[in-house]
Amino acid sequence: MVVGSGAREHALVWKIAQNHKVEKIFISPGNAGTASLAENIVIHPDDIESLATIAKDKGVDLVIVGPEQPLSLGIVDYFENLSIPIFGPTKAASQIESSKIFAKELMIQNNIPCSQGVAFSSYNEAYSYLIQQTPPFVVKADGLAAGKGIIITNSLSEASQALKDMMEGKVFGSAGSKVIIDTYISGREVSLLAFTDGKSISTMIPVCDYKKARDGDHGPNTGGMGCYSRPDFFPPQMAYKATQTVLLPAIKAMSQRGTPYKGVLYAGLMITDEGDIIVLEFNCRFGDPETQVLLPLLKTDIVDICLAVVQGRLDKIKIEWSNKACVGTVMSSAGYPASYEKGYPIIGLESIDKDALVFQTGTKLGNEGKIYNNSGRVLTLSCTGKDIEEAREKVYHNIKNIHFNGSYYRKDIALRKVN
Ligand code: GLY
Repeated sequence: MVVGSGAREHALVWKIAQNHKVEKIFISPGNAGTASLAENIVIHPDDIESLATIAKDKGVDLVIVGPEQPLSLGIVDYFENLSIPIFGPTKAASQIESSKIFAKELMIQNNIPCSQGVAFSSYNEAYSYLIQQTPPFVVKADGLAAGKGIIITNSLSEASQALKDMMEGKVFGSAGSKVIIDTYISGREVSLLAFTDGKSISTMIPVCDYKKARDGDHGPNTGGMGCYSRPDFFPPQMAYKATQTVLLPAIKAMSQRGTPYKGVLYAGLMITDEGDIIVLEFNCRFGDPETQVLLPLLKTDIVDICLAVVQGRLDKIKIEWSNKACVGTVMSSAGYPASYEKGYPIIGLESIDKDALVFQTGTKLGNEGKIYNNSGRVLTLSCTGKDIEEAREKVYHNIKNIHFNGSYYRKDIALRKVN
């Protein structure tokens, strides 16, 4: 049973369906795309009790959680108490994403390379500190804010307004009661994820995510508009170094503080012009859209990996990755990441090539069999190829055949001018 409704969860279901021992897949709530591979059960991912009841009733053997919100609410603790096998970190361990202050303190205490941010719970103190800084200003809400809690700007008035909105206006509710005013780090960003059972880790191949809405890295920040793997600027020796200096120390520290970490640990890294690796953030889950390019390159069975993590025997399995490249481009609704209109039919899904993968996000199936956009990010189209250029060409050859009213996508994913 997969929990979530995004393209990330669609990709997970697609990968799980390749395991011939799996008799049945449930997804809660799922989307129009997952319905052809799994049974969608419409329960909100935060309704942990109802999810547990369904999992028990259906005799589910493994639960994989996609989004951070149910993890931070304690879905893993709840399911473990009921002896339902579940893949993901506990509530205490998922603080590594749900509290930026927690993550910063963990990094500082364990010499994990990170920017020098200062935490505040008083608006007046935060404001006094902010006005003494030099641009670019970085203001981060402490808690979960659906990818909108980090403001980076050269304008002091914009940064001050963001601070006021978070701490006094409560635009993110209690997630913005505390903030970090961080130092700005420039460089190239890479997402490095690892499977871990709390004792050993297996680092995945690196992925480059494009967070800005528009070509050339313009426009507002989004959850991610596309990805590719693997980035040339992050060769295997750098991934090894990041494993040794970031991922392993984080896992060890979580264990030592009595909150062992199981599941996927996602490090958002900045590689500076000097080649230093700096942690921007940790996430307690698979990335979206990173998962949509990672899973097509994963040769090992995902169910076997997740069960090994849950059962604490990750060191007993060998996880293998294809040497091919993969590119994924996200198609979004007009207006995203701000407000957008939904309910437009998606045209052309049937016309794409057999080897192109479409992972849908929160799409809705109409009575007459049409699929409608129902969220900001609507789908990820992923293709593999012998190299990045081939994969990229396939993506753009196919994605131009899909559209709906207001649909848009970046044209420069994996072009590598920026990333
Ligand atoms: N792609 C960014 C994230 O998953 O948080």
